[in-house]
Amino acid sequence: MSKELGDFQTPPALVTAVIESLNSTGKKWSRVLEPACGRGNFIKALLNLPIPPREIHAIELQSNYVKIAEKIAAEYSSTRVLIQQRKLFDLDLSRDLQWRETGSLLVVGNPPWVTNSQLGIEGSTNLPKKTNLKNFRGIDALTGSSNFDIAEYIWLKLIRELAFEEPTIALLCKTTVARKVLQFAYDNDLPITSASIRIIDTKKWFGAAVSACLFSVEIGSGKPHYEAAVYQNLYTTEPESTISIAGGQLVADLKAYNRLAFVDGVCPLTWRQGIKHDAASVMELAYDKLGCLHNKLGETIIVEPEYTYPLLKSTDLFHQLSVITEKAVIVTQKHLGENTYQLQQVAPKLWSYLTAHFDTFDRRKSSIYRGKPPFSMFGIGEYSFAPYKVGISGLHKTPKFRAIGPVNCRPVMLDDTCYFIPCYSPEQAAFLTTILSHPICLDFIYSQLFSDAKRPITKKLLQRLNLKEVYDRIEFKSLLSQANIEFERLTTITSKQKAIWPSSLEELLER
Ligand SMILES: C[S@@+](CC[C@H](N)C(=O)[O-])C[C@H]1O[C@@H](n2cnc3c(N)ncnc32)[C@H](O)[C@@H]1O
Repeated sequence: MSKELGDFQTPPALVTAVIESLNSTGKKWSRVLEPACGRGNFIKALLNLPIPPREIHAIELQSNYVKIAEKIAAEYSSTRVLIQQRKLFDLDLSRDLQWRETGSLLVVGNPPWVTNSQLGIEGSTNLPKKTNLKNFRGIDALTGSSNFDIAEYIWLKLIRELAFEEPTIALLCKTTVARKVLQFAYDNDLPITSASIRIIDTKKWFGAAVSACLFSVEIGSGKPHYEAAVYQNLYTTEPESTISIAGGQLVADLKAYNRLAFVDGVCPLTWRQGIKHDAASVMELAYDKLGCLHNKLGETIIVEPEYTYPLLKSTDLFHQLSVITEKAVIVTQKHLGENTYQLQQVAPKLWSYLTAHFDTFDRRKSSIYRGKPPFSMFGIGEYSFAPYKVGISGLHKTPKFRAIGPVNCRPVMLDDTCYFIPCYSPEQAAFLTTILSHPICLDFIYSQLFSDAKRPITKKLLQRLNLKEVYDRIEFKSLLSQANIEFERLTTITSKQKAIWPSSLEELLER
């Protein structure tokens, strides 16, 4: 099996469950298209229905699968079955399917699960011609992202080329694919009239850890509706939530969002992402029991101490691991693009350490490092050196805001899996952490958060938190009492001080 073909044949029991789930809607289809039929498991289940469709068309790239599927079809005579051995992308589905029957159309199946990076996009031929998609808004953003899935192309192709048939399209796909298609359909006014997402147990069926679903979409000429009821499995009749578009963006729980929509606005402070260097083996260090620094290659490191900073990563932040951190990170620049050659003079030990590991930096794949001074970092600026911060992990699905203070008078750095607001006093960090951790704010975040996303918390989401609206709804006394707990936690680490609290949010932000 070629990885490029995203070939996971759907187990017959899952196919049966999918067909039953679709039938339970009461809708009947006289024609069916299976866009990548493989060994024909869907075709077989359809032909076994008490009232099978009158005509089935299928497409499959691999000839051995086409033969197997054709053999299955030959056992049934009541339905006209046509299987084409073609690359789906080479067909124009509005023209190249010669239907004999008329009547409602169902598109069903399980298109390949392959991402850009698995395809090695440049070399792969298992992709549509770019020109066929160029009229879509945002297509470059979609196809340019590294986790772009060819199932997304297939969805767009089916919706666009078959829209005139007003079909039901129901395909097994990753939930991330379903969401991208919904957002993309909204951005491009595609004629979706209703949709649903039914989660499937991927571990059980495919031994895969990824979240996937049966994504069903009705295409029609009625009023477009970019909402999908989310069901926990293929059978349940009660949706768990509804994902929908609000303010142009997909929200995870429309009901919760509507209740808390007042929080949706502009954060008065700028969220920053932690530092990025893509050279963890050299840049990230750890102290041993004797207080010596080691890198991940096991080497003992002696560099000028002013270039190393305490480091917290997303897991440390999430679990609120001690800020008296055992991790450290080398910081080569004070601001983006700063000349690093001066390190030769001002930090010769660091320079010789870095140059000894030049290869590691040279191997960094990301184009952002191209043409930049050697050993460059990203996510670096005056804000990185703020003594206090409010940080959050971008990778965890439970939002936990943490107030962070200096360690041994050194500001703590966060890595690029974290986001933070730079703060300049313990009061500011404590106060902001308290506002951000209030249930109003957390519930708003939950309404936006897709827990199966690689990065459930994003800068874009954090930047939408209108803190003033949250602040106005918190009783000041209870805010202060919680902020005091945060303050004490922050300051007992350094010295015992008494907090001087601001009397308003505006005053806090000015500090
Ligand atoms: C995930 S498997 C599913 C097969 C079948 N639909 C099922 O559910 O059992 C995806 C299938 O897509 C086929 N495939 C991959 N790229 C294709 C393309 N460009 N055109 C047609 N079929 C393709 C693979 O050979 C494979 O059989």
